[in-house]
Amino acid sequence: MPEVTIVEVGLRDGLQNEENILPTAVKKQLTEKLIAAGVTQLEVTSFVHPRWVPQLADAAELVSMLPKAPGVRYRALVPNRKGLERALDTRVEEFAIFLSASETHNQKNINKSLRDTYPVLEEVVQMALAHGKQVRGYVSTVFGCPYEGDVPLRKTAEICRRLLEMGVYEISLGDTIGVATPHHVKEKLKALTKEIPVGKLAGHFHDTRGTALVNAYVALEEGVRVLDTSFGGIGGCPYAPGAAGNAATEDLVYMLEGMGVNTGIDLDKLCEASRFAGASLGKTLPSKVLAGRLAA
Ligand code: HMG
Ligand code: MG
Repeated sequence: MPEVTIVEVGLRDGLQNEENILPTAVKKQLTEKLIAAGVTQLEVTSFVHPRWVPQLADAAELVSMLPKAPGVRYRALVPNRKGLERALDTRVEEFAIFLSASETHNQKNINKSLRDTYPVLEEVVQMALAHGKQVRGYVSTVFGCPYEGDVPLRKTAEICRRLLEMGVYEISLGDTIGVATPHHVKEKLKALTKEIPVGKLAGHFHDTRGTALVNAYVALEEGVRVLDTSFGGIGGCPYAPGAAGNAATEDLVYMLEGMGVNTGIDLDKLCEASRFAGASLGKTLPSKVLAGRLAA
């Protein structure tokens, strides 16, 4: 199995969904622990409206406090021009734009129809590229929508095409509410990769029904080499009711190492970072590997 890139999204996808808002200094400490564990791709925050996601209102301050570390790439989510302008004033190296394959989730999440979203994102990508920054795209609700149920694949395929035309370098396919099963993932990827090169795709699986890790495995089998995970398995979209956390980074690292894939991540140190996160949030985090280490 060739190399797999793990994009650690816990500081963004994870903390955006937590009731307890962590102090910026604690987020910084957590980031440092993740880096010490060997995590290099970190989506650290988002520059969305602070009223919509108060947990990440300290985005600029956090980024200003983060260490410069060789080989480490800080990424952030931006919804629109205003968000990009805020992010461009920081040291964030890469941006991610986002929209949904289903109209209703898009509306609830970013307050726009899909049709009105495209020009907003197009402007963001153009501006970011002009500043020499790479842009990643997220498509949410690819495998199901909390408001509309099943989402036809042609919607995802069309959005992927448009995102690539805009100039995004990679598209992360979101199982936002964790409804996908391995069979579902295989079928959708087989169909989608007839139109979109698999090298342009990443997998972003939420674990609401306990299928995130096995879905990630199937995505690997289908040729996907970039997976999004969160420390401890926290996460969820505040505008997707019922969404649980992402596949846990610990669990994916354990599985990949068992398959002979060197992730460069030290599992003990990663668990230490998650223990710190759990203690700071005042809760037990869902990762199975983490729970095993805590019990040992
Ligand atoms: P809106 O209210 O429609 O914004 O929100 P607007 O464009 O009408 O502007 C209203 C005011 O907000 C203006 O200020 C703007 O300047 C300001 P005023 O002139 O009234 O003083 N404003 C901003 N301020 C700071 N930062 C900004 C910004 N934009 C406008 N970026 C908006 C539209 C997109 C901003 C809002 O809906 C929003 O912030 N939504 C974000 C929701 C979110 O973060 N959801 C979770 C992330 S997505 C996710 O988790 C899924 C993913 O993980 C993949 C998966 O799992 O599927 C990625
Ligand atoms: Mg997500």
